[in-house]
Amino acid sequence: MKEALPFRRFVTSFHSLQLPHRFTDCLVIGSGAAGLRAALEAARSCRVTLLAKGTLEKSNTALAQGGIAASLSSSDSLEKHLEDTLQAGAGLAEEEVGRFIIEMGPGAIHDLEEMGASFDRHGEEIALTREGGHTEARVVHAHGDSTGRELSSVLGRAVKRCDGIRILEETFVVDLIDSQGRCSGAIVLSGRTGQLEIIWSKVTVLATGGAGRIWRETTNPAVATGDGLAIAFRAGAVLRDLEFVQFHPTTLYLAGAARALISEAVRGEGAYLRDKSGDRFMTAVHPDAELAPRDVVSRTIVERMLDTGDTRVFLDLSHLDPDRVRRRFPGITAHLAAFDIDITSDPIPVRPSAHYMVGGVSVDLDGRTSIPGLFACGEVASAGFHGANRLGSNSLLEALVLGRRAGVAAALEAKGQADDFRVREIESKVENDREVSIDLEDVENSLRSLMWMSAGVRRDGKGLEAARESLALWTPYVMGSDLRSRRGFELQNRLTAALLITEMALRRDESRGVHYRTDYPARDDARWARHQLVHRTPDGAPSFA
Ligand code: FAD
Ligand code: SIN
Repeated sequence: MKEALPFRRFVTSFHSLQLPHRFTDCLVIGSGAAGLRAALEAARSCRVTLLAKGTLEKSNTALAQGGIAASLSSSDSLEKHLEDTLQAGAGLAEEEVGRFIIEMGPGAIHDLEEMGASFDRHGEEIALTREGGHTEARVVHAHGDSTGRELSSVLGRAVKRCDGIRILEETFVVDLIDSQGRCSGAIVLSGRTGQLEIIWSKVTVLATGGAGRIWRETTNPAVATGDGLAIAFRAGAVLRDLEFVQFHPTTLYLAGAARALISEAVRGEGAYLRDKSGDRFMTAVHPDAELAPRDVVSRTIVERMLDTGDTRVFLDLSHLDPDRVRRRFPGITAHLAAFDIDITSDPIPVRPSAHYMVGGVSVDLDGRTSIPGLFACGEVASAGFHGANRLGSNSLLEALVLGRRAGVAAALEAKGQADDFRVREIESKVENDREVSIDLEDVENSLRSLMWMSAGVRRDGKGLEAARESLALWTPYVMGSDLRSRRGFELQNRLTAALLITEMALRRDESRGVHYRTDYPARDDARWARHQLVHRTPDGAPSFA
């Protein structure tokens, strides 16, 4: 990557005394499962401020359908869950991390029930379903296909009830504050006042979720613009494995319908995938057919679309008991009905789309990043649980377990920090020197199309190089402009994250897990059985290892 790429802070020069400010012990950025869990835990022993850039409920978490993986049935075991997780991770998932998280799974479900979560049951027992790559039924779900909504509302209610947590919605984090090598809070753009403000904190927990909105096709909501990756990178944190982006095989593909997810649990309950001629093509590809690991299913669908010249394939549930289907998937049934599709009898047009950022800010099991005072958890973090691929429903599990851990560790660290609440001067190295009128929507659309075409399900060196070139062309004027709006900041973050993802995807000249290179289709353990790391050097350029 060219050294000249301006990865610099983009906030216009300011003096901290001139900005409104507040103080908190622990600043938690993000109101998904990870942030809510961290905030609740930290609030047991310190004052917490919880931020969300939208409302509390706007998150990937709230949209989760399939459920939470936990080994609960008598035929299952922690060892089996671990084995499946390591198998999916394609040599990069860390056994010790997996064992820790998986062992905490049943307890995490129990905690949620204690808080009032209501999971679906068969009689007395929690009902479990299967998803791709799981050799056992171990996915706990709520209201059929609305696990995320249940999670988000139970945890959301708990934080609202908690006196020690101050909630600031519509508050966008622009950058972290570095005070003598320690993270000391964040600069935020308040949706209420439209002004920049400072929140000083003893410790900060980054839980900003995913980055799906960097791609044209995605299951992710509008808030998932990869801010946390870019913010952490600018702050100098070590990030890793950003080339590993999971593409979900089955997103509804209908003009005018948002790319709504059609849960893998639909295939877990027996749905078939067919092409337009009716061929059930997965049976010839993998012994688990439709329940092969996600990366295999997504790639096969894309190849089938290329072969047939069609833009989609179809989910077929017509052989399943219609009453059971409607009961099991009430949300998806209703969504499809709005587009005149009967889930029980009509073919459902689907195709893959960007779903989950496997890589992220490098953390240990306590969520500690490489920057003192900064913790990270949930989708924005990479603790080593997923390796090069993620098993369905393992991410909510991770967000709950490691979110809690990060909250405990952050609060403990906050306790050890002096009550040194004073306004400090902030040095801001900013060179917003351009007066360019930028059509943000046009750059957003161009970026998302570029990433979809070049850094999507199938990648190759040529495409990635071309993407890098375009990004290098757009980046200087977008980064160098004062785009002082949430949308402008988000665009700058998307570009930064896209550059890092593209560069890492280009460097990894092999195929592994979700990263598939048509020019290097084989896994190359001799060279690549390792993580890739990146951090920002003081001169602003990324340094890859
Ligand atoms: P999120 O839930 O995405 O929350 C991110 C938070 O960060 C939001 O509150 C947002 O406002 C805030 N934020 C972001 N940037 C900023 C900023 N600059 N300033 C302030 N706040 C910011 N996983 C499973 O395990 N099981 C499933 O069934 C499942 N289904 C899914 C279905 C869909 C449609 C999607 C999109 C994902 C699904 N996943 C599922 C993945 C899973 O939902 C996510 O990985 C997980 O919810 C991430 O949680 P999180 O707390 O890390 O982030
Ligand atoms: C799904 O319901 O298919 C999504 C599950 C996940 O991403 O873990």
